[in-house]
Amino acid sequence: MCGIIGYVGERSISDVLLKGLKRLEYRGYDSSGVAMFHGGMIEVHKAAGKIVGIETLLADRRQSGVEGGIGHTRWATHGAPNTKNAHPHRVQDIVLVHNGIIENYREIQKLVQSKGFTPKSETDSELFAFLVLFEMTDSKVDFIEAIRRSFLKISGNSSVVVMSERQPGLIVGIRNGSPLVASWNSEHGAMLASDAQPILDYTNQVHYLENYDMIVCRKSGIEFFDVHTAKPIKRPATKLDWSADRLDKNGYPHYMLKEIHEQARTILDTLNANFATSGGHIPFDFAPHPGLDQLSKTDRLSIVACGTSWHASLLGKFWFEKLAGLSVEAELASEFRYRSPVLKKNQVVMGVSQSGETADTLAVLQDVNKRGIPTMCISNVKGSTISREAKSAFYTYAGPEIGVASTKAFTGQILMMLLLAGKLGREAAMADSSGKAMIEIEKMYRELFELPHHLANGLLEESATSRATKAAALATQNSKGFFFVGRGYSFPIALEGALKLKEIAYVHAEGYAAGELKHGPIAMLEPDFAVVVLAPHDLWYEKTVSNLQEAKARGAKIIAVGHADDKLLPSMCDHFIPLPINTKKEDGKPVLSETLIPFLLAPIMQLFSYQIAVHKGTDVDQPRNLAKSVTVE
Ligand code: F6R
Repeated sequence: MCGIIGYVGERSISDVLLKGLKRLEYRGYDSSGVAMFHGGMIEVHKAAGKIVGIETLLADRRQSGVEGGIGHTRWATHGAPNTKNAHPHRVQDIVLVHNGIIENYREIQKLVQSKGFTPKSETDSELFAFLVLFEMTDSKVDFIEAIRRSFLKISGNSSVVVMSERQPGLIVGIRNGSPLVASWNSEHGAMLASDAQPILDYTNQVHYLENYDMIVCRKSGIEFFDVHTAKPIKRPATKLDWSADRLDKNGYPHYMLKEIHEQARTILDTLNANFATSGGHIPFDFAPHPGLDQLSKTDRLSIVACGTSWHASLLGKFWFEKLAGLSVEAELASEFRYRSPVLKKNQVVMGVSQSGETADTLAVLQDVNKRGIPTMCISNVKGSTISREAKSAFYTYAGPEIGVASTKAFTGQILMMLLLAGKLGREAAMADSSGKAMIEIEKMYRELFELPHHLANGLLEESATSRATKAAALATQNSKGFFFVGRGYSFPIALEGALKLKEIAYVHAEGYAAGELKHGPIAMLEPDFAVVVLAPHDLWYEKTVSNLQEAKARGAKIIAVGHADDKLLPSMCDHFIPLPINTKKEDGKPVLSETLIPFLLAPIMQLFSYQIAVHKGTDVDQPRNLAKSVTVE
């Protein structure tokens, strides 16, 4: 939520801030602003709406100079999303940007009013600048010390970046909760941002701030201090393996479409990163990892996540249970943390989070760590808060995901869970000398290396899968509502399909286990309602087809997704979407194990929603009211 940037260096400040804000826009986009030195004074420019607003304002006010500047893109919490509440906020000579929530804002508001001041905005953020001012005027401490002392007076998770007209060339940031990442080198100067993406345009060496770290940035260098003690601390640089070219659209009209297409690469990169290489053969041995030893010892796993990552976790549960015989619960982090979950010493709690910053998922891991129960995580962002909070971290290799609706990160997450489940299952099979189970798992691993090929084929614009997905989407886009239904592995994909449609096309959709339709939702069905039925050739096929018939009998429009050579489904539905695989001629068995079919179904669901959203003209990459990284509860 919200993106922060700060820069001091020789480059054009306005260019660096604007480019950086565009990289951060996915974090929130209801208003934006920048503050830059000009002639010894700080100019503040703010606009409601997306970055383009501020870009227009700055078109003829490009600034250079080494005094520095800060910028912000907002996802509103306190106060409406308008120009007045946009950051940066100024109180006399102090200008700041803030990400997070100041929980004791009422108390500070009273203090500000008691001293005869009236804040200009409705935000909690502006109040912090008053605290800094009071420290400087009443306690007579310098600017840096005033920021440090003020920070100790606020509660809740917040990060701030502050500058002052009294101190040209200096930017001070403090992190607690909402992330801050910094970089410095002699060529490009000092930069501070909510994540590494704006920094990657200049360097891949970054310093992650820990909670209650203060950073002082000057063109000549950066220094870190402990906020509680004011003592200097060290925060060594981490080298990132993402490059800036992965942050662009590369010719696609939307990031989301680019990211849907990148899923074949996500699968290959995640496979290659996890398996130890073994002389050109398909490898079955994982690269050593402390989390693997921990998982091997556990007999119960609780997976916690939010949104799409929770849907991925539901699939993980299926696979851990089936392949590894492990008892698993997949829980919404926002619910788990406020229940009284019974945790045993020999269990593991795993957070699944693309961004590695989601507040609820993070809070669960923090609580569980305090209870001495082993934690781990699956994240797409190295160095993210969750990956550092968890005792061990597994990474997905989806690369940066910019589209707010998650696509390739979901694929990376489900793959990582499948690999872990397979690894535990294979170990158990070896211990029991269960040849059959071992053969099955090794076959699945081999097929995993073929999966990117099937997926890439299916996503080709001219493929039967893509064409049918587009045709079905366009024909049904004006339906009154959508149900997405599936059984077994297809159930979490049905939930995810419905979420995608709501998120990017603003169309009402619900996902159900197909067997649940008749327990209530079926009452909704009528001719202008659409039901997307996920019916690949798997264990549940016949039952799913029966559920399809129940929906069809109520007059709903049926979109069925099944194996390309399915003879039955096309005759039973209004629109048939063929998977990019069929059954083998020799034995009638599917070419791909049913375990792997979610990897093909999910991108079809993403493409389906994408097509409807594009036709409706919604903002696909930055849907209304959403933000990519949800760092508030
Ligand atoms: C939906 C989506 C969200 C996220 C959720 C958790 O497309 O992206 O539902 O999955 O906010 O985010 P992470 O995975 O970053 O914890």
